[in-house]
Amino acid sequence: MHNLDQIVDAACAAFAATDDPDALEQIKAVYLGKSGRIPELLKGLAKLPPEERKAVGAAINRAKDAVGAALNARREAIRKMTLLTRLAEEALDVTLPGRGQARAGLHPVTRTLERIEALFRSIGFEVADGPEIEADFQNFTALNTPEDHPARSMHDTFYLQEESGEVAQGVLLRTHTSPIQVRYMQAHVARHAALEVMPEIRVIAPGRVYRVDSDATHSPMFHQVEGLWIGENISFADLKGVIGDFLRRFFESDDLQVRFRPSFFPFTEPSAEIDMAFMSGAHKGRWLEIAGCGMVHPNVLHHVNIDPEKYTGFAFGMGPDRLTMLRYGINDLRLFFDGDLRFLRQFV
Ligand code: FA5
Ligand code: MG
Repeated sequence: MHNLDQIVDAACAAFAATDDPDALEQIKAVYLGKSGRIPELLKGLAKLPPEERKAVGAAINRAKDAVGAALNARREAIRKMTLLTRLAEEALDVTLPGRGQARAGLHPVTRTLERIEALFRSIGFEVADGPEIEADFQNFTALNTPEDHPARSMHDTFYLQEESGEVAQGVLLRTHTSPIQVRYMQAHVARHAALEVMPEIRVIAPGRVYRVDSDATHSPMFHQVEGLWIGENISFADLKGVIGDFLRRFFESDDLQVRFRPSFFPFTEPSAEIDMAFMSGAHKGRWLEIAGCGMVHPNVLHHVNIDPEKYTGFAFGMGPDRLTMLRYGINDLRLFFDGDLRFLRQFV
């Protein structure tokens, strides 16, 4: 019996001395394994006189249970310790300072649009708006653009489809902001119908427009800012003055290369395109068209019940995406709409 107590004590001491689960299992083999110390004692029972076997066998089994219980207790203790160590190691330090928040910034084209609005408001222009899904009538017909004009063809314009897949008659994504001219003039005339003399129209209309276009200076979705000034004795000289002043203030420079190049629009006569040269960057000196413009065609004024004998005026349709290219020396306008943060962050 004395011998058995020693074995149990030795096993318990050996278990307690390790906190490594593998070492623990090896110690278990020494005491409880197939040829471990306790199974060896059990094998020895056969050699005892039969009258002693029962008592000795019971004592050995008690010792075996005691060693087994000590082993399980140690296993559990080691498991808990390991868990606590891991928890301590992987604990979050909630007192660490944060990583900082990304600062939001305005898109470069939005900045341009805001600048344009501010500059035109400062010389008495209102800012108007119109629908991006437009009627054929306002986008083309009222602007003196005949049925067979190439701008109306399927490969230049996004027409809307019915659910059946049919092209919806007369409904399209506007190809320019000029239909707002029509809508604004119609509303203006209606608003002031009772007056002998119509108050001047002085308005800009910024917005998104769509065309089947894609290259370094053309995006299928882009922006325009329409401008319209109608009154008595408004001339092409006023157009040149307004545009010239605007560009000098927009680019904060008196030293700009700007030219008016004769052109054609069905809704203006005479018409011009406005070109500007890059002032900096790899494209310094290269010309880029920034707007179309002209004196509003008498037929357009007729369409909206304004007497072209009494009132004249100019209109322009400017490309703010192109102005943004010039302002920052960017050579591909599609970069503005790719949504690449590495590009956009440069403007924050
Ligand atoms: C027009 O759209 C006329 N409505 C402008 C106008 C208004 C003339 C009022 C007379 C009176 P145009 O197609 O040239 O014209 O476009 C005007 C400007 O929009 C261009 O000068 C250019 O700056 C810009 N633009 C045209 N297409 C694109 C495009 N795909 N991507 C980016 N900018 C464009
Ligand atoms: Mg043009």
